[in-house]
Amino acid sequence: MHKTPETGYEDRVSDFLVVANRLPVDRFVGPEGEVGWRRSPGGLVTAIMPLMRGRDGAWIGWIGAADEEAEPFTDDDGLRLVPVPLSGEEVELYYEGFSNATLWPLYHDAIAPPEYHRRTWDSYVRVNRRFAEATAEAAARGATVWVQDYQLQLVPKMLREMRPDLKIGFFLHIPFPPVELFQRLPWRKEIIEGLLGADLVGFQLPAGAANFIRMARRVVDVRAQSGQIQFEGRTVQARAFPISVDVGELAELAARPEVQERARDIRAELGDPDRILLGVDRLDYTKGITQRLEAFGELLADGELKPGEAVFVQIATPSRERVEQYQLLKDDIEQQVGRLNGEFSQLGAPVINYMHTSYDRAELTALYLASDVMVVTPLRDGMNLVAKEYVASRKDLRGALVLSEFAGAAAELRRAFLVNPYDVDGLKRTLLAAIRAEPLDLQRRMRSMRRKVADYDVSRWAENFLTALRNEGAGEAPEEIELLA
Ligand code: ADP
Ligand code: G6P
Repeated sequence: MHKTPETGYEDRVSDFLVVANRLPVDRFVGPEGEVGWRRSPGGLVTAIMPLMRGRDGAWIGWIGAADEEAEPFTDDDGLRLVPVPLSGEEVELYYEGFSNATLWPLYHDAIAPPEYHRRTWDSYVRVNRRFAEATAEAAARGATVWVQDYQLQLVPKMLREMRPDLKIGFFLHIPFPPVELFQRLPWRKEIIEGLLGADLVGFQLPAGAANFIRMARRVVDVRAQSGQIQFEGRTVQARAFPISVDVGELAELAARPEVQERARDIRAELGDPDRILLGVDRLDYTKGITQRLEAFGELLADGELKPGEAVFVQIATPSRERVEQYQLLKDDIEQQVGRLNGEFSQLGAPVINYMHTSYDRAELTALYLASDVMVVTPLRDGMNLVAKEYVASRKDLRGALVLSEFAGAAAELRRAFLVNPYDVDGLKRTLLAAIRAEPLDLQRRMRSMRRKVADYDVSRWAENFLTALRNEGAGEAPEEIELLA
């Protein structure tokens, strides 16, 4: 470690830092005790990974296992990974507790009842401070720091107090709820003040930004106009930046002969049914998995669909398995799949193929290509990248997208088969419409949706956010840092 006279900071080298609850890779220990790394689940990592590739930045986050200390290391793409340790108790209180049993359900329309416990809040504060300290330690003078998501909403304020020279952006990947819901939170003021520590607070949709500004006005006496909030002598911007996917990566995967071959094999393995319906989600109660299976089951029961005519493939990545609501959901889905298969399947030909596992990108793309109807029916979702991935991979202009009105993606993908997943009859009608749609209709819809996704992919999303942060941020950086050269 050495002290550089220009910066006055010891060994703090990174000009651009992403701070997220998870590192983009999780550490795991295999059956033989061998240690390995695998890509972390979820939309956040999918979105941020491509923008870090080849960039000389650092990513600060948890390695996904409790009680594990790991030294900072550099991955094959030159990305510096700085692990933040969590104890077993912190995983329970900060991650499973406050993040995923309080904030996650509260921010998703309270679909599951949010829990409010002072112990989990205390742990949230402590862990947020640890992330802020690790970032303050790693950032060069005047660096740009981009804090991600609901697990770290106190970090902007804490970090600003430690390092007023930094430019701080924050992006919320999930919805910001309406005032009527948010104000239930006993620590609403602390969260709002935490976020106001950033120079720029980004949301998926304009409604999220508007909810945040309304709430800020209510709890901390701020003035706000056109997305600019005046707070403690600084200007904080609050704006929407709808996230997207890596269109180039998906197009490349979808064009690979072996992926197309695999797509044909998948159809054959499923018995070449007329129609394959596909769901791909983390196993989460916000995703509307039971609703879509119920609608599919009723179509079979009504005789509108014949077994063998349509097969449902539901892939669900295991997620947050120690949180009670997730365990309940898993049991519900397993029962539902068992019941429907028991009722409608023929020997060797289940009507629902349910896989509780995660797949690599090539296999996922093959599944997208093999399917006729992609069924995305969240009850509430910040964006939903699966919907955009499906569109990005269908260069052949085939395939129908059934999409919930309550996914952020519905604001852009207006030519999807839009549906209210709470309306079982509406869901049945929409599934049938997608199953029976004419190829020409599907082509027109897909072409229009592909234009939207291609125009605004994940690199433009990041560029827009970082440009806004650079231009408007009120940090005290001595010089402009060129992030997107
Ligand atoms: P969320 O962020 O709530 O998990 P998104 O749809 O926005 O939901 O993002 C999910 C990401 O995780 C997508 O990139 C998707 O491809 C990936 N994913 C979802 N399910 C699986 C799975 N079973 N295997 C591999 N990747 C998955
Ligand atoms: C969503 C959240 C992310 C989270 C991901 C996976 O995408 O917005 O912040 O990382 O789900 O969830 P997990 O709890 O496994 O990190």
